Amino acid sequence: MIEELEEKMLQKFEQIADRLSDKGYAIVDNFLEPQEVRNLLNVLTHHQEQGTFKKAGIGTADQFTVDREVRGDYIRWIEPSEALPPTQVFLDRMDEVMRYINRTCFLGLKDYEFHFTMYPPGTVYQRHIDQFKENDHRRLSFICYLNEDWLPEHGGNLRLYLPQEDGSEEEVDIHPIAGRLACFRADMIPHEVLVASRHRYSLTGWMLDQLNELTFL
Ligand code: OGA
Ligand code: MN
Repeated sequence: MIEELEEKMLQKFEQIADRLSDKGYAIVDNFLEPQEVRNLLNVLTHHQEQGTFKKAGIGTADQFTVDREVRGDYIRWIEPSEALPPTQVFLDRMDEVMRYINRTCFLGLKDYEFHFTMYPPGTVYQRHIDQFKENDHRRLSFICYLNEDWLPEHGGNLRLYLPQEDGSEEEVDIHPIAGRLACFRADMIPHEVLVASRHRYSLTGWMLDQLNELTFL
């Protein structure tokens, strides 16, 4: 049984690595089991009740600004040494993903950073890329959705703009359904979050080519 589970997870890691190197992005369903989603939602609710979510901004340090029109989400960074058990399970999984990608894709990933994310109804994140001009250590973006019973009419798609060889762009829309993982090259793929009619929850993060504590120096 355990071997079967591990085999399934390995197949998902393979999908991530193959599609990332092939297309620059990957979508994997059931990356999280329904029970894992539930446990992570409980942790998210706990952080909300503690009031530790903050309005997200744009840029780093002295470039940091908050503009609700551009970016409407609230975030709560994960401090790995203080992670609650469901969060630790998630981080361990991402650690395995990172090792797998390093064995197969040679991106030289060294660390990762993740936050819980909440978009209130009516908010968006306008088109952007995830690398900062003054800090280009984010190599891969990962978003794991936690939205149970999400229907297409709730909106809230992630829209990727894939650069084509002829200079045009192909749009890909991704529903933020529970358990689904979306990942893409942080340096190459513009994307946006479309408006939703429900609260939209996820874990969002990046794999970095240097250790996290050095990133913001
Ligand atoms: C981000 C982002 C996409 C999503 O947080 O930078 O683009 O689907 N998120 O939540
Ligand atoms: Mn982004």
